[in-house]
Amino acid sequence: MIELTNVKKNFGDLEVLKGISMTIQDHEIYGIIGQSGAGKSTLLRCVNGLEDYQSGTITVDGEAVNPDDPKKLRLMQKKMGMIFQNFNLLNRLDVYDNVALPMKFWGMKTKTPEAKKKIEGLIELVGLSDKIHALPRELSGGQKQRVAIARALVLDPEILLCDEATSALDPAITREILALLQEINEKMGITILIVTHQMEVVKQVCQRVSFLRNGTVLAEGRPEELFVRPIKEVKQFLQEESGHLPEEGVNIQLFFTDESSDEPVITMMARKLDTDFSICWGKLEDFRSSVFGSLVINVKEEDREKVCAYLDGKKVLWEVL
Ligand SMILES: Nc1ncnc2c1ncn2[C@@H]1O[C@H](COP(=O)(O)OP(=O)(O)OP(=O)(O)O)[C@@H](O)[C@H]1O
Ligand SMILES: [Mg+2]
Repeated sequence: MIELTNVKKNFGDLEVLKGISMTIQDHEIYGIIGQSGAGKSTLLRCVNGLEDYQSGTITVDGEAVNPDDPKKLRLMQKKMGMIFQNFNLLNRLDVYDNVALPMKFWGMKTKTPEAKKKIEGLIELVGLSDKIHALPRELSGGQKQRVAIARALVLDPEILLCDEATSALDPAITREILALLQEINEKMGITILIVTHQMEVVKQVCQRVSFLRNGTVLAEGRPEELFVRPIKEVKQFLQEESGHLPEEGVNIQLFFTDESSDEPVITMMARKLDTDFSICWGKLEDFRSSVFGSLVINVKEEDREKVCAYLDGKKVLWEVL
């Protein structure tokens, strides 16, 4: 649905995107995560043509995004709804008129029975039917974002672009908004591209994620692959330390994924090999609907060989640290 090939973008001398390539499939929920200043918002703005880029190509649904062709660009932008951290609602308009705004912009009538059905349907979808004539100042942050989501859907887009859409919300409301985005993705088949610096967002909803640093994609994959067994740079971003591991013996890290067996591998190993181990570090995390994790154990040096041989025969990923 969205394809970027070697996209480069400068602001003056500042290289903000240094050759970005990524492919986002139809119906996918795709995340772009990275620190402040990594170039995430710029990338999103290039995708919907708000920002020009110096080289490379961006295509949406097979067509090139070309800011030099404003007429065509406007038609393409219609396919891409967008939501932001600060909601961008018009304060003097009520919920209904805010949701209807893009239709007005396109010269469509917003009070015909058809338009009403559509707008009211979207307001119902986001759970705000009882607030339909409320003004933005009468709404909470989560409710404002719901209005922004309904507005982003009013022109029947194929794609929803979200720039830090939950960053201003507390964790419980963030989970609700993400659940709503997931529902929209499933019910309406809309492709969703989420830009965020929040790990929780990626873990809860993204099927794939790119990790961006200094305008470069450092890693790409399923969130569980990227975060359960992170490469060095991603580890730094996660500020994750497997901490003070024992200097004696052998430290072995095991990774539990959806492909690991359900066997209690380590306790079985201890019994079978008649050896002991200590647990030095561990984490378990939810990714969408599955739990993934990793554990560091310490075994005696003289057991190294037989422990490694045992783990080799099991459906578990592991490495000696
Ligand atoms: N219009 C602009 N003119 C000049 N420099 C810009 C402009 N917009 C962004 N930049 C610079 O480009 C870099 C990337 O900015 P961008 O907003 O894309 O980062 P980001 O990853 O979205 O960060 P954040 O997480 O803080 O939103 C920054 O160094 C920023 O200062
Ligand atoms: Mg940003």
